[in-house]
Amino acid sequence: MIHAVILAGGSGTRLWPLSRRQLPKQFLRLEGDRSLLEATLDRLQPLVEPANALVVTGCEHARGEAYQALRPFRTLLEPVGRNTAPAIALAAAWLSRKGDDPVMVVLPADHVIRDLPAFHAALRQAIAAAEQGALITFGIRPTHPETGYGYIRAVTDGRTDAPVERFTEKPDVATAEAFLADGHYWWNSGMFVWRASTILDEIQRHLPDLYEVLERIRAEWRREPERDDPQPAIEALFHEMPSISIDYGVLERSENVRLVPCDIGWSDVGSWDAVHDLAEHDTRGNAAQGNVLAIDCDNTLIHAGKRLVAAAGVRDLCVVETADAVLVVPRGETQRVRDLVDELNRRD
Ligand code: GDD
Ligand code: MG
Repeated sequence: MIHAVILAGGSGTRLWPLSRRQLPKQFLRLEGDRSLLEATLDRLQPLVEPANALVVTGCEHARGEAYQALRPFRTLLEPVGRNTAPAIALAAAWLSRKGDDPVMVVLPADHVIRDLPAFHAALRQAIAAAEQGALITFGIRPTHPETGYGYIRAVTDGRTDAPVERFTEKPDVATAEAFLADGHYWWNSGMFVWRASTILDEIQRHLPDLYEVLERIRAEWRREPERDDPQPAIEALFHEMPSISIDYGVLERSENVRLVPCDIGWSDVGSWDAVHDLAEHDTRGNAAQGNVLAIDCDNTLIHAGKRLVAAAGVRDLCVVETADAVLVVPRGETQRVRDLVDELNRRD
């Protein structure tokens, strides 16, 4: 049995002002009429049925604006965000509570993948390798010394999967540059495949504090098996989980990681520049979303919510209009949105 675990608890601050605490990036319809979360599940068919998908996200989304988007899916709802390791541990424990040991395809809810056949081929390879008891990562060919990603050293030599020598989460620029020069490093895509028992064993070994809280949650689940409701125990105990990502907590420390290299048209849509790159452009590199009138512009991204946004003679600019905030930032500097959000939070 193959299950999908969708990580949808992030706050997606880099796409502010469209992405908000109440309705973060994964719930947005950035392309067409499907949200990034829905597109993530669409993309898995026919390899994983929607009925076998479990979305792990924050409690607040079960009530707020995101509620409609989550309604069709089975969910585990976290009372507080504790990053990805506790979210994944919880999903592995829940999916194996009746003694099964399913293969879990763990996917971020907020990425775009353009080449579906290549993605499915990589997924099939990953599932086959995970069945043998390894932690499977997907390697993307790095193009620049990005510091927001994990880097994986693996010598693939044309193989469909290869042992990982080293996993380094979010290196500094100099280290990332050295990794690129090395030639055997891959970006970690943030997608993983493993058996529930494999990841639980690794968590027990590398994150014993987390595992101890998980054991207490499982004991609560076992006390009322006929109820089969994950939430009461999560609400009572999840806040005791340490906050740590699966990358720092397990992948950097484990000796059981393998890499499936892939070229799948992947983007983590991590900035407005990435949105620009993914969108359709005119011949002068302008991407317009919504009600936009642009004359004589070059290399712009203009996103209009309800109002008309009109621009003439501007270049290298991102403009994002929403009901209560308008963002203006140069193209190539859209990572600075994070600084704006930090400053806004300080003023709150
Ligand atoms: N349920 C839940 N709870 N989900 C979470 C939480 C949480 O507390 N925190 C983050 N997520 C979700 C996010 O919504 C996203 O889908 C996914 O988990 C990854 O979290 P990010 O916060 O986006 O991680 P990152 O971008 O810094 O780094 C990861 O992704 C990179 C590729 O985009 C790492 O895996 C890197 O190694 C990787 O290169
Ligand atoms: Mg991310």
